[in-house]
Amino acid sequence: MYQCRECGAQSPRWQGRCPKCGAWGALVAANESHARPPPPQARPLREFEGQTIERRPSGVAEFDRVLGGGLVPGSVVLVGGEPGIGKSTLLLGLCGRIGTSTVFVAGEESPAQVAHRARRLGLSGDNPRLLDSTDTDEIADALRADPPDVCVIDSVQTLRTRDVDGAPGGPAQVRAAAEKLIPVARATRAVLILVGQVTKVGGLAGPRTLEHAVDAVVLFEGDRHLTMRTLRTVKNRFGPTDEIGLLEMREDGLHEVRNPSALFLSGMGSPGPGAAIACVVEGRRALCIEVQALVVGDDRSGPRRRAQGLDPRRFELLVGVVESLYCGVLSKRDVYANVVGGLTIQDTGLDLALATAVMSAQFGVPLDARTVVIGEVGLRGEVRPVPRTELRLKEARALGFEKAVVPPRTPALKGLQTIPVDRVDKVLEVAGIVDSSPREPPLEVLSPT
Ligand code: TYD
Ligand code: MG
Repeated sequence: MYQCRECGAQSPRWQGRCPKCGAWGALVAANESHARPPPPQARPLREFEGQTIERRPSGVAEFDRVLGGGLVPGSVVLVGGEPGIGKSTLLLGLCGRIGTSTVFVAGEESPAQVAHRARRLGLSGDNPRLLDSTDTDEIADALRADPPDVCVIDSVQTLRTRDVDGAPGGPAQVRAAAEKLIPVARATRAVLILVGQVTKVGGLAGPRTLEHAVDAVVLFEGDRHLTMRTLRTVKNRFGPTDEIGLLEMREDGLHEVRNPSALFLSGMGSPGPGAAIACVVEGRRALCIEVQALVVGDDRSGPRRRAQGLDPRRFELLVGVVESLYCGVLSKRDVYANVVGGLTIQDTGLDLALATAVMSAQFGVPLDARTVVIGEVGLRGEVRPVPRTELRLKEARALGFEKAVVPPRTPALKGLQTIPVDRVDKVLEVAGIVDSSPREPPLEVLSPT
């Protein structure tokens, strides 16, 4: 059998010219190595229409949520996070609970340490199987020989590929490890989960070189001193990237948070001045969270604007807005803000609550504890509409809030009083408890002469 080097056509006998494409001298014996395989053919889109992405639940619902509905066989997920945040705990728990065959490659810890942690998490039995190696080729061979459904590499920085220079954890080694292991996942349809250690300063530094090669990048974040942890997707070939997952670190591992809003409210009946309740949307979920502000000092030459749990530049901007509305009252004062519970909020629907907390702190006016504050703030102090107001209002109502300060033209929701405001400086009027001590009766009562 002969094959054309140009078009791949086959012919039972040798000819000087290919009978199909007419190329001269292109026919070679079909088993010769330089024979080209027939080229792949492009197929119409409609032939792929019925195909859906297969997903398997991971056993950790919040992890499934951020991935867009579960693990996709043959895909590669990078899980990044600072040391001690709980990556090993999360993924060991996942391996033990998913209910299918799993392999945990423990490079960071000894098998004994992993087994000790597994006991703490209440895991026993066959899964995961532990693979005690940091040699990329060995690991790839082991996975090919007996492919699991899920393989966790903890962490990608501990792997070494023999024929590659550089220390483990360096860009060359990390890239080489991914290049060896990703094809194994694709070929065996195993889900490969790579753990990447992230340092505070370096971001995803080492592992960042992997971002383009993997299908999804999930960041595991939180304040190590608090119990709250978040999962956030920053890249996802199979689903949305704006979803967040919420988990709580307890003595026996990570647990799903059933009523997340409860974690973000400080729970003090009627908070003093400087606190407001916002209702933000992260991913497809609405959360009621408390924001706090502190205004101190009155002769600062370089006053501070510091914020925790939100974009510091957005905070500076909002302080500037409040300042301009009230003729520079904050110009010599330090202003601090904090989001209760350790979450970092990206939603600009937080603006109005944040500005309100600052005004409340500045003027010593506490806010009504049964009111949530929703809205984006523009540079002139105008209150702007935000997406998904209905979702927000429903969450507030479900948590027992009675009133919501909202942007103008917000549709009402049964069971919750909505109070539209068009400017930041009107919020305290409608949501502030101006004075709880005995005072003069309101004007309407004084005037009927
Ligand atoms: P770990 O999963 O080792 O973090 P990482 O792999 O991201 O470095 O988590 C370490 C912290 O979590 C450690 O300080 C102890 C705490 N922890 C719990 O609170 N409960 C638990 O069940 C486990 C296993 C750990
Ligand atoms: Mg670890």
